Amino acid sequence: MTPSYDVVLVGGGGAGLRAAIAIAETNPRLTIAVVSKVYPMRSHTVSAEGGAAGVIAPDDSIDEHIYDTISGGDWLCDQDAVEAFVHEAPQELMRLEHWGCPWSREPDGRVAVRPFGGMKKMRTWFAADKTGFHMLHTLFQTSLKYGGVTRYDEWFVTRLLVDDGRVQGVVAIDLKSGRVEAITAKAVILCTGGCGKVFPFTTNAAIKTGDGMTLAYRAGAPLKDMEFVQYHPTGLPFTGILITEAARAEGGYLINKDGYRYLQDYNLGTPQPHPVFRSMELGPRDRLSQAFVKEMEKGRTIETPYGHVVHLDLRHLGEKKINAKIPFVRELCTKYQNLDPVRDLIPVRPVVHYMMGGIHTDIHGATPLPGLFAAGEAACVSINGANRLGSNSLPELLVFGARAGRAAAEYASQAREVDPRVIAQKTDEHRRLEQELFGRKGRERIATLRDEMQKTMEASAGIYRAAPALRQGVAELQRLQERYADIAIEDHSRTFNTERVSALELSFLLDVAQSMLAAALAREESRGAHQRTDFPKRDDQRFLAHSLVSRNADGSCRVEHRPVTITRWPPGERVYGEAAPHGTAHQAADRPLSSGAGV
Ligand code: FUM
Repeated sequence: MTPSYDVVLVGGGGAGLRAAIAIAETNPRLTIAVVSKVYPMRSHTVSAEGGAAGVIAPDDSIDEHIYDTISGGDWLCDQDAVEAFVHEAPQELMRLEHWGCPWSREPDGRVAVRPFGGMKKMRTWFAADKTGFHMLHTLFQTSLKYGGVTRYDEWFVTRLLVDDGRVQGVVAIDLKSGRVEAITAKAVILCTGGCGKVFPFTTNAAIKTGDGMTLAYRAGAPLKDMEFVQYHPTGLPFTGILITEAARAEGGYLINKDGYRYLQDYNLGTPQPHPVFRSMELGPRDRLSQAFVKEMEKGRTIETPYGHVVHLDLRHLGEKKINAKIPFVRELCTKYQNLDPVRDLIPVRPVVHYMMGGIHTDIHGATPLPGLFAAGEAACVSINGANRLGSNSLPELLVFGARAGRAAAEYASQAREVDPRVIAQKTDEHRRLEQELFGRKGRERIATLRDEMQKTMEASAGIYRAAPALRQGVAELQRLQERYADIAIEDHSRTFNTERVSALELSFLLDVAQSMLAAALAREESRGAHQRTDFPKRDDQRFLAHSLVSRNADGSCRVEHRPVTITRWPPGERVYGEAAPHGTAHQAADRPLSSGAGV
């Protein structure tokens, strides 16, 4: 008997669980399945550290958060979406408080907020530096209240069921038994997170392989703004483990090999911080990562076996503050880098952290494919534009997880029943999985192809890009796709066959990587995290537009552009540093269009 639900959620992280709760609250009669390839508490949300932005301080305002987000995103954000997001973020964070999230507090009991990169007011709520862990726990325990939610933990979705122009469920492998099953539904929400594993150095967990993005793309939904890849300026070399921006928010410095706070040379402010927000080290991530590359080109970084690094200096903060505010940073450095930030400098380098792009959705999480919704990092609404500000992604998964849940609940309440004939697609998918993975003796190794893909992506679509390397990357990915058809699977067992999962994840990653390069090649300008050395200026005449990548029948990509939604904030210059607080930045918005290119 094929299990059937009103809504199937793919992904059990923050966005998925928030969506599940929203569906149950919208219509308690609806049945919901949460299908996740890992136990939900192992979802990548758990590793978020620094915090979640939402206006709460008396000197802050909704308009300032909107403006910071839009200018931080280099005017590629849809402003209607940003307005909705900023309005709803504090309500969502407060709702989480009521569900039990232990936000850090001021001595007088008020919710504590810290500054964060590119935010010109203190508005980042936090739970020490384990914010994602506490948020995910809160959402998970809250989701357990709802009897309508059935969990499929450790089930891996390989395909969407699409018939009659609408999505009607998924095909998934039960990893414990290896069985391939259909799970039908009137609506599906993809909340599978990002795809950092396309690159070699990333803060992302091994599970972040772009599954939902590729499922949607293969089913006919476009991917939006895939060229915008966020590098976080402070990852540990080799492991890529995140050293949270909170370390800089609490007063940490970035210094080069000469012990010099080099960011003062890159239009990011001076060593004397503004009384409210700190500039320089708390500039936006795209600018900081670009400054690192420039510093490296000047020969002022430190060479290590795992690439060039600079140092994050927390020593002046003292042991008491480090233990109180960023204890996890100390724990990570001790365990994974064999150093103690109370006494030692931390080597750091930019590492891939977040995808601004994702499955194209509207402001309610709906994709153009009826019955298909998406939320969280897997989706692109878009509120992050060309560069996400740190601490906007946790509230994003709450606000748009809830919105997608409500929209899917309404859709499912009115949708036609699933057509039973759609279940036949399970047989096709089962056959494909058997033939492609178990049916032949391949010669190519998964790890080799993955390694080559990651190196190709770093070389062609890193912090700086240009047409020749992008074209070379496109050709190399095409070769890797062909070699993938000759993949070797040695383990033919059915129970927890991690080799089969890795092969399927690699296939998802390759498709996502192709969409990134296609979009990056088509965008002949520099904006936010997309810096083209051959087109160094922002070009609002041609590219104040989202990229939409669709898949052709032969597997190749098609790129189109569609306009950005501008409501009240016309394109302007991005200004950081000591002159940047609110009033000044707004005046900057009134200046004529000009280069927004990086450092
Ligand atoms: O540095 C950090 O804690 C990351 C936060 C974020 O990506 O929002």
